[in-house]
Amino acid sequence: MKSEENLKSEDNAQQQTEEPSGCKKLLQPKFLIPIIIGAVVIIVLIVVLCVVLIGGDDSSSFEYSDFSNVDSRWVEYYKKAEKFLKDFTLEEKMLLTYSTENLLGACVGSIDANKDRGFPGICLQDGPAGVRRSTNTTHWQAAINTASTFNRELIKRVGAAQGKEFKTKGVTIMLSPCMNILRNPLGGRIWEAYGEDPFLAGEVAVEAIKGMQSQGVLACAKHYIGNEIEDPRHNSSTNIPEQALWEIYIEPFYKSVKKGDVASFMESYNAVNDEFMTKNKRLLQEILKDKIGYAGFIMSDWWAINSDSHEHFGNGCDMNMPGGPWWTENMTGVEGSWWYKIPEWIKSGLITEDRLNDAALRIIASMFKVGQITGNKLNDDEIYPNNVHLDKSTITDETKQLNREVGQESIVLLENKGNYLPLKNNKHNTHTYTSITVFGNSAADSPCLGANDCTCIGDNSTYNRGEATRYFAGYVGLGWGSGTTRFEYQVSPLKAITARAKTEFNVDVKSSTGLTGLSGDFNDIKENIPTDSTLCADLNIIFIAANSGEEYIKVEGLLGDRKDLNAWHNGEGLVDGVLALCQDKDYVLVILGPATVNIKSTWKSNTNIKAILFGGMLGAEGGNAITDVLFGDVVPSGHLTFVWAPIGSYPNVTKTASTLGIKFLTIEYNYTEGLFIGQRYVEKNNLPYDYPFGYGLSYTTFSYSGLSCDRVTDGLSVSFNVKNDGQYDGKAVPMVFLKLPLNNYPEKVFKGFDKKLIKAGATEKFEILIDNHDLSYYDVDKGDFAIASGSYTVYVGGDAKTLPLSVTLPIS
Ligand code: BGC
Repeated sequence: MKSEENLKSEDNAQQQTEEPSGCKKLLQPKFLIPIIIGAVVIIVLIVVLCVVLIGGDDSSSFEYSDFSNVDSRWVEYYKKAEKFLKDFTLEEKMLLTYSTENLLGACVGSIDANKDRGFPGICLQDGPAGVRRSTNTTHWQAAINTASTFNRELIKRVGAAQGKEFKTKGVTIMLSPCMNILRNPLGGRIWEAYGEDPFLAGEVAVEAIKGMQSQGVLACAKHYIGNEIEDPRHNSSTNIPEQALWEIYIEPFYKSVKKGDVASFMESYNAVNDEFMTKNKRLLQEILKDKIGYAGFIMSDWWAINSDSHEHFGNGCDMNMPGGPWWTENMTGVEGSWWYKIPEWIKSGLITEDRLNDAALRIIASMFKVGQITGNKLNDDEIYPNNVHLDKSTITDETKQLNREVGQESIVLLENKGNYLPLKNNKHNTHTYTSITVFGNSAADSPCLGANDCTCIGDNSTYNRGEATRYFAGYVGLGWGSGTTRFEYQVSPLKAITARAKTEFNVDVKSSTGLTGLSGDFNDIKENIPTDSTLCADLNIIFIAANSGEEYIKVEGLLGDRKDLNAWHNGEGLVDGVLALCQDKDYVLVILGPATVNIKSTWKSNTNIKAILFGGMLGAEGGNAITDVLFGDVVPSGHLTFVWAPIGSYPNVTKTASTLGIKFLTIEYNYTEGLFIGQRYVEKNNLPYDYPFGYGLSYTTFSYSGLSCDRVTDGLSVSFNVKNDGQYDGKAVPMVFLKLPLNNYPEKVFKGFDKKLIKAGATEKFEILIDNHDLSYYDVDKGDFAIASGSYTVYVGGDAKTLPLSVTLPIS
């Protein structure tokens, strides 16, 4: 390159050797300066004109060279996203932030592709129990079952297997996991989440997310936060005291970010402390993004954005779902959508262009993070909706087997009097039967499978005979709503028990599984209580069940939430009826449902009821899993993720009318119990309960010894031994609880667990680290987590009430 000096001397040389003539005269110094000035002016004018014509107001090239505040795990994806978005126009960026389809497209939500820019579009699909509205897919167990395995490795495997199915079908974001807290078992969607305990919910969410995202789909931490009840979820405020807000309700989301590195979030419909979550600046921007440091993006729940949508976008919601032109309060206009409003907002100063850049950056960085954008050119079948194939077959022998394995490890054995189970004739159990009968409608095949005379709605196990009489019948494999799958096959308990009883005892199983009152009002639907005593067998297995779901579908008069904890269709009457009919026989009771179902005290004390099993919601392979446990093909190792108690022993869900006059907000739920939910609640208030958090029997027994604790840099290291004292090999789940040196604090809090197979007679050493975050509490005055100085007690045992080991030590 020539230097300025050289150019000047070249110019001088030219002037000396040539005679000025014609236009060369213009190059004389007297003309040269005005010409240069003129040329510069013209160039500047051309450049300005080009900018106006090509980009106009739409020009939006931006640079965020400073990523110093961004989570270090995300910086490389932010850089890629910044480069990717560099030439996006304002409108192109805006199009990333809302779905143009209103549940009418290939997926439940979608963002259009921008092929020229290499953006494939986004398909958002539920979750969590499998790929919704899809065929040839696995009908997984409910998430609460996954949690009750207490098996991190298994939970991650399930996440990965599910993630693979979503990815194979072309889904970008799987709308899972759900981590709302089981504050009261009436909550309609508790089966979609992980139980009552924030530590457990966080740990399970982390493994699930790691598994899902390992397959190249974005997981979605939902519903942030306070959506513990369904009716009403759109117009209620969940009012949570500050310490409980952090330690209980935010906690699983906190872990999803810090340990799970989740790529997307979904806000809940409800308000928290009188501000709707969709525009809750404190919880979205200040807490989640700024303080916790979440670098991904936040979407709204479906149609959750009301009017004033600039506040929602401005306060931290990055994506309006569905948000298309059809959505408003009454689905006719554009009030609740931010469709095409963003440029106006920027122009009028309602939001800054940086807010849009930030949202676009977060969305694209999240996609880079899991490999959903490569930056390469795309062809037509690589973009939405051509790249979505919800009917592509992803169900395999392996996925069915994994569903069955989770079932086996999640079933909770509540009672086993005199070690009655398993149903075997071997050196430990001596059973021979000449007759076995299965009672109860929930043991039977769903009437919809293979039948044309009823319409499946809510994707699963509820049947539509007109709006007013939707009901559920047959095997309860999952609840209803967006979080379920439409069963194409299922192994009902009756089918599986029948097959197994034949091979084990050469018995032909009889059954009585009918419902009555199907043609009347739903209140008339009842278990058929048998009167024929020839049905009475040596062994009588009775199934009772409850169900619940999501608010947008009304089933048997319920908008999602249960109205009580009774078994549905007079299940209680069925058990009492069979006991009265058959008298002095052997009975095993199996309970299916989202969580607690009332167990009469007379059943517990009745010595003829030999065993009680809780199956939860096991998905399509449930019948097999129940049979595997009953017949001892596997030794049970599932544990309760909640305290099992009568309804009065849970914090209430009383609706209080709101007096605040905030638009749409009519109801308030006050979480006055604060930190004291679940097991903590019953203990603090001395309330009755049937089984504690963490409870679950095995066909063997375990003993605990040798507890020692060490304060290490990363936290508190806890080690101990567990011995299998029984005769069956079995999986042990030792649990660690901690008493903190704080007043007005729960007596003990759950802080650690692990699961290992221990051979009969063998001993295994466990080492569990309670990390510094889990050691800490939320100090409201400081506005941060802190480790209290003082004397801590560490407890170890099999559940919240059986804690034979303890050590007290000072921690600072
Ligand atoms: C539910 C979400 C779900 C979404 C999309 C909403 O009604 O609350 O959990 O992901 O619909 O189906």
